[in-house]
Amino acid sequence: MNSSALHAFGTALLQAHKIDIQKKDKAFAERFLQHLDAIESLFNLIYGGHAKRNASFDALLESLIHYYQNRPATFLKKDIAKEKKGYWYLSNEITGMSLYVDRFAGSLHGLTEKLNYFEELGVNFLHLMPVFESPAGESDGGYAVSDFRKVDARFGSNEDLNALIKKMNDQNMYLMLDIVLNHTSHHHEWAQKAKAGDSYFQDFFYFYDNRDIPNQLDQTMPEIFPESSPGSFTYIPECNKWVMTVFHHYQWDLNYSNPDVLVAMLGNVLHYANLGVDILRIDAPAFIWKQLGTTCQNLPQAHILLRLIKQCVQVTSPGMALLGEAIVAPDEIIKYFGTDNYVAKECDVAYNATQMALQWDAIATGDTRVMLAAQHPILQKPYGCTWISYTRCHDDIGLGYDDYMIERAGFNPYHHRTYLKNFFAGWQEGSVAAGALFSVNPKTNDARISGSLASLCGLEKAVEWKSDMEIENALRKIILMQAQTMFMGGIPMLFYGDELAYTNDYSFLQDPGKSYDNRWMHRPIMNWTRNEKRKEANSFEQRIFSETQKLIATRKALNVISDTKNVTWMTPHNIHVAGFVRANEKTKLYCLFNYKHTASFVTWYAFKEHGERPSILHDHWSGQDFKVGNDNEYFVLPPYGFAILESVT
Ligand code: GLC
Repeated sequence: MNSSALHAFGTALLQAHKIDIQKKDKAFAERFLQHLDAIESLFNLIYGGHAKRNASFDALLESLIHYYQNRPATFLKKDIAKEKKGYWYLSNEITGMSLYVDRFAGSLHGLTEKLNYFEELGVNFLHLMPVFESPAGESDGGYAVSDFRKVDARFGSNEDLNALIKKMNDQNMYLMLDIVLNHTSHHHEWAQKAKAGDSYFQDFFYFYDNRDIPNQLDQTMPEIFPESSPGSFTYIPECNKWVMTVFHHYQWDLNYSNPDVLVAMLGNVLHYANLGVDILRIDAPAFIWKQLGTTCQNLPQAHILLRLIKQCVQVTSPGMALLGEAIVAPDEIIKYFGTDNYVAKECDVAYNATQMALQWDAIATGDTRVMLAAQHPILQKPYGCTWISYTRCHDDIGLGYDDYMIERAGFNPYHHRTYLKNFFAGWQEGSVAAGALFSVNPKTNDARISGSLASLCGLEKAVEWKSDMEIENALRKIILMQAQTMFMGGIPMLFYGDELAYTNDYSFLQDPGKSYDNRWMHRPIMNWTRNEKRKEANSFEQRIFSETQKLIATRKALNVISDTKNVTWMTPHNIHVAGFVRANEKTKLYCLFNYKHTASFVTWYAFKEHGERPSILHDHWSGQDFKVGNDNEYFVLPPYGFAILESVT
């Protein structure tokens, strides 16, 4: 359709649905008509030639109107307030925590009762790990969803979720939930019908009569869980067919080449918006398009679909930002913010998985050269977009940066990666880390790392060894890691338990629904009696909790940390120190982090390279003031220490 025909078509549709174009619904109608062109052209790029093109395009537009009409007044108001703030999610005042409702607080109701804990810590944004129905024992931590709209009974009810969201809103907290876009549980109604032979629903998935195409695809598709779920296809005896299962055998990949799938899943996206989600975490978006002869990851069509979803959300629930959980190579991650005409018009937020892994690299080696060599793609983040900045999350740590980055830092990639894996698995001589390798693939020699922040930083072993020195080092490393995460830019997302130095929890080994997946070692069950120790002087819990609190408060007080521009790295005068500058018109901050077990020295000259030369620097962490010395004198960072230095004159 040409633009004016499309406009007339859109207007007629709005009128048919009793949208008050002139008054009450004016803003919505304007957005709808403004975005229509882009929505249509993106839709046509994927489905233009599809037999169901017209019917599904109409269904998609009707969906936008329907969910707008059902958007609760509170969130309509919140949309307006957010629009006034501009890119609200760039704010330095937001700090998040990611948690499992049941493991953290028993239930949604229990969590509602615990909101004051977050306030005490300074956290005002929660990522609840999946809460919708998911079969116990085959749930992948909730990422195998059997009903996208029904809260799983183990967490409570839909009403409990609503009550939690209401209370969070009253307390000005933000919420993130997941949409598991790539797959459903094999217990989902669509999968059940497909299994029973219903061809309409078989088309919702990738079904094959024999192994011909699966065999071809297997040649190029990397395995995600090679140990627990090798291959990417599962035989379904009920219908004598093979189905695509990229993750676990019980997670069936949705087929987005069928427009009915997109329309149905978009309905779920908008439904979550109407629950009151502030940031929607799009789980595993890299995988949503499959094509023979490719890795079936990060394909251009996946980006088109995300852009289309973004346009739709922008129309119906503009206050909801989108996070693309793309844990992929650095050059690929950045593309989820959009490219070409769609720069900053795809996902608003992405995980800074590269930086996270680089910090672990530096912890293991005491050397920041790889971190520095890998910054180029990270610094391409466009204005209006931001990172989730994190040290640990519920998943494994993938050393996803490229070999050339390691080479640039002067190391052999194979030996370097082997060292890191051995270090975190605790096999390397002298390693204090207590982690484990996850998803070891003997064919590619690839492996990722599991383990809690505290255990990977050495606390578990140091306690076992009763070594005060190693305990001190571990505690410093924990806060060093969190500090760099907090000041790098982006929304810091803590992982529950890390604020209290929880070490690995090995109870998962006793649970057959979990024992095959060692990521559960770093997904602890909170012990609220133990958590009281955060109030006991000289306990680890007290030290880490109060220092985390202080980091959050310091960040909140410094507007210059809002993510309106990317960091500027300082010239590396010392390989053990990562240093960058955050600046706006009023404030200039030098943030330095020492990854070495002894003190590190940085020439004062390093502070004189970025515009006006400071003479006094105030450290927001230690509270000390420093007089900037001569070029042959040094600023000294303590072992595993850091400084957040503001230029005061
Ligand atoms: C995401 C989740 C991970 C899950 C996978 C499959 O990567 O973070 O936990 O296993 O998607 O849904």
